[in-house]
Amino acid sequence: MDAKDIKKHLKKNVEIIIYDVATSSNITAKELASKGAKEGTTVVVKSQTNGRGRLGRSFISNSENGLYMSIILRPKIPIDKCANITALASVAVLDAIESTSQCSCQIKWVNDIYINDKKVCGILTEASYNYEENLLDYVICGIGVNVAPPKNGFDNSIKDIAGAIFEKEAPSIYKSVLCASIIDTFFKYYNELEKKPYINKYKEKSSVIGKKVDVYRGDEIIRGLAIDINDNAELIVKTENGDICVFNSGEARVRKSGDKLSI
Ligand code: BTN
Repeated sequence: MDAKDIKKHLKKNVEIIIYDVATSSNITAKELASKGAKEGTTVVVKSQTNGRGRLGRSFISNSENGLYMSIILRPKIPIDKCANITALASVAVLDAIESTSQCSCQIKWVNDIYINDKKVCGILTEASYNYEENLLDYVICGIGVNVAPPKNGFDNSIKDIAGAIFEKEAPSIYKSVLCASIIDTFFKYYNELEKKPYINKYKEKSSVIGKKVDVYRGDEIIRGLAIDINDNAELIVKTENGDICVFNSGEARVRKSGDKLSI
């Protein structure tokens, strides 16, 4: 994979910067953004030594068969609208995977992409806020996709939950094709951010709506039935005592079908 291969498949005119190794493409992208890199500049890293995940977790990302990329954005929106970018990115990745492979994907709220109940993609959106102007300065949308399993298999810590687009090897050009498709699809939606053209698919492809869930938010666990996702990409949960809770962040784990919950 090199920048030329990606550009060959890309419609949008953005700068692609590729590194063989970096601690994290999000960190590199932040450094470039703070030095003035243009919106759309995309950092692609072949291997990360300290890949970062949501909720302070790490993201194992040293596989030759992974795609690790971070898109620099400069949206003129207040910080509370940032969740829209996260939802948009999930739908863009889902569309890109489905249009370049035979796979059908689902989105586990907030923004994990699953194929056949295995996680194939995680997204970490990070923002820098300008307090004086009350606007976002820049946003980094970091995307990590398992294109195929690592040669020696997934790490023990994730082998039960991780999956990939291809069972064995992917065609050699595939990572570049997928990267270009993610960028183009992302900007198709991003150019109409206010109209939220991605939100219906975000709901339709949700793997949690209608399921009994535990929502982890900080030290709290809220148990209930995920009844909907609203237009702000927030998860709506009805608890056992009938309360309606609206979550704009956190993690939802679907409970096993036999678990008792009287809703
Ligand atoms: C998660 O599943 O918790 C989110 C994982 C996000 C991983 C991607 S890989 C590219 C970018 N760089 C990082 O360090 N993290 C994101």
